[in-house]
Amino acid sequence: PASRLHSFLLFIFAVHTSCSFTMYFPQITANKSYSCEGLGLREVPEKLPVTTEILDFSFNMLPSLQNSTFCELKSLLYLDLTRCQINWVYDGAFHSNRQLKTIVLTGNLLLFLSDTAFAGPRSLKQLDLTQTGITSISFIPMTNLHSLDTLILGSNHISSLQLPPNFPTQNLKYLDFQMNNIRAVTAEDVHVLQKTSNITLIFKGNNFIYIEPGALQSHFYSLDFGGCTDIPGVLTGIRNSTAQILWLGTFHGVEKEPYISPNVLQGLCNTSVKDLYLQLRHFRNLNADTFQCLTRLRKLDLTQTHISALPPGISGMSSLVELVLNANSFEHLCNISSAAFPSLTHLHIKGNLQVLQLGSGCLQKLAKLQHLDLSKSHIESFDCCNEALSGLSSLQYLNLSYNTKLHLQDVLIKDSPNLELLDLASTPLHINASQGPFRNLHLLQVLNLSSSHINTSMQHLFQGLENLMLLDLSQNNFESGIMPKDKLFQQLSNLEVLILSSCELTAVGGKAFHSLRKLRHVDLSHNKLIAFSTDAFSNLKSIYLNCAHNRIRIVPREKLASLAGHCRINLSYNPLDCTCSNIGLITWYKQNLDKIEDSEGTRCSEPKSLAGAQLATISLSCGINTAGIIAVVLAILSCGAIFISGARYFKRNYQQI
Ligand SMILES: *[C@@H]1O[C@H](CO)[C@@H](O)[C@H](O)[C@H]1NC(C)=O
Ligand SMILES: *[C@@H]1O[C@H](CO)[C@@H](O)[C@H](O)[C@H]1NC(C)=O
Ligand SMILES: *[C@@H]1O[C@H](CO)[C@@H](O)[C@H](O)[C@H]1NC(C)=O
Ligand SMILES: *[C@@H]1O[C@H](CO)[C@@H](O)[C@H](O)[C@H]1NC(C)=O
Ligand SMILES: *[C@@H]1O[C@H](CO)[C@@H](O)[C@H](O)[C@H]1NC(C)=O
Ligand SMILES: *[C@@H]1O[C@H](CO)[C@@H](O)[C@H](O)[C@H]1NC(C)=O
Ligand SMILES: *[C@@H]1O[C@H](CO)[C@@H](O)[C@H](O)[C@H]1NC(C)=O
Ligand SMILES: *[C@@H]1O[C@H](CO)[C@@H](O)[C@H](O)[C@H]1NC(C)=O
Ligand SMILES: *[C@@H]1O[C@H](CO)[C@@H](O)[C@H](O)[C@H]1NC(C)=O
Ligand SMILES: *[C@@H]1O[C@H](CO)[C@@H](O)[C@H](O)[C@H]1NC(C)=O
Ligand SMILES: *[C@@H]1O[C@H](CO)[C@@H](O)[C@H](O)[C@H]1NC(C)=O
Repeated sequence: PASRLHSFLLFIFAVHTSCSFTMYFPQITANKSYSCEGLGLREVPEKLPVTTEILDFSFNMLPSLQNSTFCELKSLLYLDLTRCQINWVYDGAFHSNRQLKTIVLTGNLLLFLSDTAFAGPRSLKQLDLTQTGITSISFIPMTNLHSLDTLILGSNHISSLQLPPNFPTQNLKYLDFQMNNIRAVTAEDVHVLQKTSNITLIFKGNNFIYIEPGALQSHFYSLDFGGCTDIPGVLTGIRNSTAQILWLGTFHGVEKEPYISPNVLQGLCNTSVKDLYLQLRHFRNLNADTFQCLTRLRKLDLTQTHISALPPGISGMSSLVELVLNANSFEHLCNISSAAFPSLTHLHIKGNLQVLQLGSGCLQKLAKLQHLDLSKSHIESFDCCNEALSGLSSLQYLNLSYNTKLHLQDVLIKDSPNLELLDLASTPLHINASQGPFRNLHLLQVLNLSSSHINTSMQHLFQGLENLMLLDLSQNNFESGIMPKDKLFQQLSNLEVLILSSCELTAVGGKAFHSLRKLRHVDLSHNKLIAFSTDAFSNLKSIYLNCAHNRIRIVPREKLASLAGHCRINLSYNPLDCTCSNIGLITWYKQNLDKIEDSEGTRCSEPKSLAGAQLATISLSCGINTAGIIAVVLAILSCGAIFISGARYFKRNYQQI
């Protein structure tokens, strides 16, 4: 429910940012969704129609909510009252809002909540009381909360839980007590929670001193005790419970020593947990005993736990499918004792804090591994990665991006022909192979070589990649700044997305992309292209072509004629000529605004009088008069001259190749 609430908020945000501000309060969706955020309002505007379903009324001023405040908005589903300086919520404040599902009261210092404050809505599902100054649960009237699935009470001053017998447990899925002052929990306090199942319970940022053994006994979905110091206390508190997810990590800036010694996790033997998170804890004397009660885990997250090795001799971890070891200090890939985790499908060793040596065959027991993330780990390898990553026959995802340097002597990874995604972005690659280094990766769909300093003059670079759909070559250079003809991409018959932004390209060879028959998205932005070329493509049907941030001045009409159907082009931030010499583009542009992306940024740079004007707004009359004829004749003559000299130039250059 929390994530639903969250995506709901995101949705509102997304729509909001693109809404048109027609009335004095903006309407988001016709007669249904309105935002009056931060308008300094002291009452709900009468103009809001009775059909309003979603109302963002945050950051206004409503010191008290009366039974008349929202009485007209009978269709309301969602009401956001964040930071409206609300202190008093009187009887029946929402009595007319029968459909209301969500009330957000975040950041209002509530002094009074009437017993019938929440009466009215037929099935109120979400109540957000974050930062409302609440000191006790008894302050919240329980009347009419039976449908609640989400109750958020974070960042208050609650010191004692004492959930009343009529606490709404029937539909409760998400209960958030983060950042309160709860120090003790007795079985009686939380007895009602035994009636819940699959609930998410958040206690992070409370410093428990005492939890009665077995007090929290239920079938939880997720339990979050982030930042608490007494882990053994927590584990006896939840003994005999089941939880899909148990969060025992901590945060930066938590004062108490978050050390974990081997016996600290013993209590896990008496609970049934699937996914365990221990971020930022500090392991002391990490040894095989530490894992004694972790044998039933499905996922273990040890992000930034200050470990440099997992001990040899760990046993019984055959249920573990996902292991997260990010931001630790392994010296050597063999130091993770991978043989102890034979069922792993996902392994993350991202952001290792020191140079990670790959060694040889350190992961070769992981025949089921599908997903391997070794990004940002200072890896430098002189013969990558056949020996180092041998045996990974199920591998589908490999991320080696943001490393120091990789030398490839032959194929990159011999044993993993099932690879579907390979990310080598921002890792300098040095290839010393006579054949394509990816030639065995026939199933590869995504290849990111952005900023990898790859030698694009190697003709066999993309040999064998007949299933590749996305290729990112951004921020790499091409010889003399020219995208060569055909050869390089010859085998990529399934390529759909090609990214060549920021490659310092000055020209694209004719027919350069002719073998890419399925190409539908090409990004050539941030280059130095002078010409807008459509000849380079064999298939212009529904192509997306981004040529933004180049040096294109003039586009001849015949280059545009072939852009039919569902094509879209982005020509923003080019120094476009808005004189009659570019009338071809200008007339086509106005007739095809539906094909233009970012018309806001598509502006003239010439002549001076029109500099900065949007292309869509200008009108030129380019009738032929005497001066025009002279100009045309001159133009033809000079074109001829340019053509001849250009031909000579090309000939000379061509002979050099
Ligand atoms: C929105 O409300 C106005 C007046 O309140 C009405 O004229 C219009 O038809 C409504 N539009 C929709 C889409 O319901
Ligand atoms: C609203 O509250 C006033 C007193 O505050 C009361 O007289 C009135 O009957 C209430 N209206 C409804 C519909 O409950
Ligand atoms: C348990 O809750 C989680 C998160 O709310 C949800 O994704 C999952 O489907 C629920 N499982 C069952 C069996 O209801
Ligand atoms: C936990 O469960 C076991 C067996 O299921 C039972 O013997 C034991 O009494 C329970 N402990 C508590 C504290 O409920
Ligand atoms: C597990 O629970 C039993 C009783 O149910 C108890 O005797 C034992 O000490 C507990 N073990 C741990 C490690 O807490
Ligand atoms: C890490 O592995 C290397 C190579 O197997 C070994 O030499 C080294 O002692 C290990 N380091 C630790 C801390 O276990
Ligand atoms: C690879 O790792 C980098 C850095 O951790 C990350 O930004 C990127 O999204 C990852 N690539 C993919 C395809 O997931
Ligand atoms: C390739 O990697 C770079 C750097 O991580 C990233 O910005 C870019 O979005 C990636 N390309 C694709 C197509 O995901
Ligand atoms: C390149 O490969 C050749 C033959 O495979 C080898 O002799 C040479 O040392 C390699 N160069 C580098 C820089 O690794
Ligand atoms: C790039 O590859 C080409 C063709 O294989 C080769 O001639 C050239 O020397 C290479 N450039 C670098 C910098 O390795
Ligand atoms: C057009 O391309 C530029 C540069 O890549 C980009 O900033 C802009 O967002 C694009 N326009 C749209 C509407 O995507």
